[in-house]
Amino acid sequence: MTDIDYFEMNRLGWDRRVKIHAESDFYDVKGFLAGSSSLREIELKELGDVCGLTLLHLQCHFGLDTLSFARMGASCTGVDLSPAAIEQAQKLAQTAGLDAQFICSDVYGFHRGNTDPYNIVFTSYGAICWLPDLERWAQVVSSNLIDGGTFYMVEFHPVYDLLAGYAYFTKSLPDVEQEGTYTENGSEVVAELATWAHPLSSVLNALIGAGIQIEQVREYPFSPYNCFEGMEEREPGRFYLNHKGHDVPITYSITGRKAT
Ligand SMILES: C[S@@+](CC[C@H](N)C(=O)[O-])C[C@H]1O[C@@H](n2cnc3c(N)ncnc32)[C@H](O)[C@@H]1O
Repeated sequence: MTDIDYFEMNRLGWDRRVKIHAESDFYDVKGFLAGSSSLREIELKELGDVCGLTLLHLQCHFGLDTLSFARMGASCTGVDLSPAAIEQAQKLAQTAGLDAQFICSDVYGFHRGNTDPYNIVFTSYGAICWLPDLERWAQVVSSNLIDGGTFYMVEFHPVYDLLAGYAYFTKSLPDVEQEGTYTENGSEVVAELATWAHPLSSVLNALIGAGIQIEQVREYPFSPYNCFEGMEEREPGRFYLNHKGHDVPITYSITGRKAT
């Protein structure tokens, strides 16, 4: 089976998840429409003021985070593989009265030339596991940034994946699983999905190889999402996981700048 077939598998799986996610408490579309941001403390603090900047959100799902950035004054473009997610994002933008562009595309197909390069390229929580090749991904990141532009990502930590029984190192073939989804209403949307493991060194080296100067790498013992079994909310909005008496690294973030 080729990568293209895995992408089709994932596109179908994500298409099926969109409606359930948009109706979930987990994503809280109602709260977003009432004015709250879907962005969490880590990215809000680390990315800072985006007002007046152009921002490309890779793997934007149905656009909540993209539109939260738009509300902060950024000029946003969201890209996602799933036509259902893009359609939902466009509807949400209209309902919220926010201006943002949403484009249905595989990440690897979104090279410079699709649009002008951006001040910021952003991606978050549960994105890179859907991609088999991080070097190609980092080239897409770099080609979509202006010189001196900011790359920012916040992701789930691969050490968590290892403890949960998945690979730490990348394998040529993905893990393919039949699974429900992570929202509280998600047990009925079982879909077949393909994911690839990526150790932290692969993420960093791919970015460095694509001309992104790494400025900060941070690791956290908490997630802003209560999305893994056994998590404990020790402070509001911070979910921790204990392994043999120690905190598990659950999330990490990377800030970089495109070399001029
Ligand atoms: C977990 S979600 C995005 C996370 C985001 N933080 C959120 O919760 O809204 C992952 C997204 O990646 C998208 N995706 C998966 N593979 C992709 C690919 N090859 N190109 C573009 N988008 C992809 C899926 O359609 C899905 O919307």
